Amino acid sequence: MALLLHKRVARLQGLQKLNLTTSISKSLGYGFVRYIQTQPTRYTLNTGDKIPAIGFGTFQDPGAQEDAVSRALQAGLRLIDTARVYDVEKQVGKGIKASGVPREEIFLGTKLWCNNYHPDDVDGALQDSLRDLDTPYVDLLLMHYPCTFKRGKDRFPRDGDGKMIHGETNYVDTWKAMQELVKTGEVKAIGVSNFSKGEIETLINETGVVPAVHQMEVHPYLQQKAFNKWLDSQGIHVVQFSPLGNMNDFYRTTGWSKEVSHMMKVIDQPILKEIAAKHGKSAVQVVLAWGVNSGRSVIPKSTIDWQIKENVEADFKLDPEDMEKIAELDIKARFNDPSLDYRWRLYSDLEGIEGTVEGKTH
Ligand SMILES: NC(=O)c1ccc[n+]([C@@H]2O[C@H](COP(=O)([O-])OP(=O)(O)OC[C@H]3O[C@@H](n4cnc5c(N)ncnc54)[C@H](OP(=O)(O)O)[C@@H]3O)[C@@H](O)[C@H]2O)c1
Repeated sequence: MALLLHKRVARLQGLQKLNLTTSISKSLGYGFVRYIQTQPTRYTLNTGDKIPAIGFGTFQDPGAQEDAVSRALQAGLRLIDTARVYDVEKQVGKGIKASGVPREEIFLGTKLWCNNYHPDDVDGALQDSLRDLDTPYVDLLLMHYPCTFKRGKDRFPRDGDGKMIHGETNYVDTWKAMQELVKTGEVKAIGVSNFSKGEIETLINETGVVPAVHQMEVHPYLQQKAFNKWLDSQGIHVVQFSPLGNMNDFYRTTGWSKEVSHMMKVIDQPILKEIAAKHGKSAVQVVLAWGVNSGRSVIPKSTIDWQIKENVEADFKLDPEDMEKIAELDIKARFNDPSLDYRWRLYSDLEGIEGTVEGKTH
């Protein structure tokens, strides 16, 4: 019970066996060895398992993901986030093998896609993911969105007018089927992504099973303070996707790109640069550290070596006054909002749903 109500924060120090984010890198051109020191923060889920604070996203760039995952693991990251719909699970599996990092040291999560939400399809979808990831289990399985699409191979099933066709079951049915997977040991924890508060309450009220994780959009422009507080009170750990905000070009080029996606990038905010200078860090690292100092995990995506290393080194302590200044950047700007395309009012009781745009990605 206590576990469900209070997430225990484990700040494990440098000698932690399974969480070596201390690595050595050669500083190019200067010929000296530099030791990268970070706080290897991990959090305890309501299952009792631990999840690292800093992880690695794998959406986009399929051709680069095998190498990127391998390098991210070698750089010290131990949390890998992927999804069936990203079409990179094979690359992720190969990257894990190539890294040489033992599977049991890695927290690996994937997501069910909406065309596989019928209870009779959930186990098959998991088996496909396990096969492609080349692993006997995943540490976390998430429902990617609350909306259910028509069963079948087509991931984006549309009618003659291009409108998404919904399935005949709902997310509660899927949630019950996911609970069965935990019993097999092939899934260690289950959670959700892109749910509203009301939708999570429905899951809990109807099944009594509290998600271990909610993966959702959180960054300084969309802090979701009240919702984050509520999730914490329920013992649901938050993993921030798009932790750098509108850094990803996807939000400016996708069919459902909102006007707000074109505003100044989060990391260009002068106040973040000031805080970064004070700590000898970059604005990117401050943004990631803000998530970690708030008790959440962050999963930045990058295929570029120096960026991956920069992100690994973002686990450091911010001062209370830094946190207060970053709190003021909360303009409630949500970038990821395919509500009209998916024909499901996502985030209905949450902040940042103004300006939702009609448009397709698939
Ligand atoms: N559950 C969901 O519905 C959902 C939705 C969106 C994302 N996600 C997950 O969250 C992950 C991250 O989200 P995201 O890719 O949208 O956003 P993000 O990680 O906040 O931003 C990615 C962008 O930031 C750049 N970047 C990363 N590290 C950097 C650094 N140190 N310095 C400068 N630029 C840097 C990347 O560049 P390069 O690509 O050039 O390296 C890329 O353009 C995804 O990969 C996915 O796993 C989940």
